[in-house]
Amino acid sequence: MLKDKNIIVGVTGGIAAYKAVDVVSQLKKKGAEAFVIMTEGAQEFVTPLTFQTISQNPVSTKIFSQPTTWEVEHISLADRADAIIIVPATANIIGKIAGGIADDMLTTVVLASKAPIIFAPSMNVNMFENSLTQRNIETLKKLGHHIIEPEEGFLACGYTGKGRLPQTDIIIDEIEYVLNKKDLYKKKVLVTAGPTREDIDPVRYITNHSSGKMGYAIAKAARDRGGDVVLISGVTHIRPPSGVKFVRVGSALEMKEAVLKEFDDADVVIKAAAVADYRPENISGQKIKKSDEDFILKLTKNPDILLELGKQKGKRILVGFAAETQDIIDNAQEKLKNKNLDMIVANDLTLEGSGFDTDTNIVTIISSDGKIEKFNKMGKKELAHIILDKISGLLQQS
Ligand code: PMT
Repeated sequence: MLKDKNIIVGVTGGIAAYKAVDVVSQLKKKGAEAFVIMTEGAQEFVTPLTFQTISQNPVSTKIFSQPTTWEVEHISLADRADAIIIVPATANIIGKIAGGIADDMLTTVVLASKAPIIFAPSMNVNMFENSLTQRNIETLKKLGHHIIEPEEGFLACGYTGKGRLPQTDIIIDEIEYVLNKKDLYKKKVLVTAGPTREDIDPVRYITNHSSGKMGYAIAKAARDRGGDVVLISGVTHIRPPSGVKFVRVGSALEMKEAVLKEFDDADVVIKAAAVADYRPENISGQKIKKSDEDFILKLTKNPDILLELGKQKGKRILVGFAAETQDIIDNAQEKLKNKNLDMIVANDLTLEGSGFDTDTNIVTIISSDGKIEKFNKMGKKELAHIILDKISGLLQQS
């Protein structure tokens, strides 16, 4: 999504200026062109040469420099930008832009550009909490600009509090969010992810290898595309994406209850969770003691949540996943039909880089109109957008 995008990175004079180098590096890795503009203050912390080397583009530092072409530099940069990110954004730059001041290259480009503008504030906690700074941030928000909330922690000035620049991936995420098409705007997208845990006793349970990566990638992509996302997840080690309603569940029965609670007004349901088909018939209240005998655990069937949703489908778009090791297409087609789905995403678990606990997936997407599309190995994030492109198409038809 960042590929071939022109991103202006405004760097201002705070200690976190060195972290902007990593932001530029990540933008380049993702195929974007980064054009860095540094304020005078920023150059006290990092040299323009560093940014020039990383971005492989000239760095703008002065508004009145000798022109190398007849293009007016600040206007041409402003016109070229798909987005502007100011990282770190000091209290000074926030105040200047909120007040409409244009007295250097960065503020001039900002004023001349129609591109979305993102601020990543970073400063001393007292400066951040100062009512003037807060007023200026509110002004920027009201003008439609985007603010990445600083994190709390130990600050370079020796204070502890809110004012730290967030990690690079959070900043890149926000840029991607801002640039994304918003084709799921006002659509409620319900996503399930991760494994279920079926308790045996207070210390043991049955589960599977689902990491949640696929479902979380879908939830995040749907959020980026403007959806009102509810992510219902089994226990995973992944941080839930910000800006989504997050519901943590344990067992399949808990997942069913949570899903049904959110189902009525959902427009789209995507069930990427790996739900246990069986659970122990009885959960022991006490830890089961070891004995010399074999231990036989009786399992009972869990409800098939997706099957039940299929019966109440209505106009909702219903998408299932199928994790298969044999007869992939036949098995997935059967599930698509039985569960009354619009689409099923079949993972071939026999292939390396597909299915559980990988960053990639290898899938075949089968639609209810009979279309079968095989995809090569790709990142789960990329796959999430392919699935959502298809859902978006279905929403437009309905
Ligand atoms: O989480 P990751 O590590 O990223 O791995 C991703 C994944 C492999 C878990 C995911 O891509 C996937 O394939 N999820 C579905 C796995 C699965 O349970 O498949 P299934 O064929 O057993 O179920 C078919 C569909 O019915 C699924 O959408 C499942 O959520 C749903 N189901 C299954 C059983 C059940 N009792 N209730 C359900 O709703």
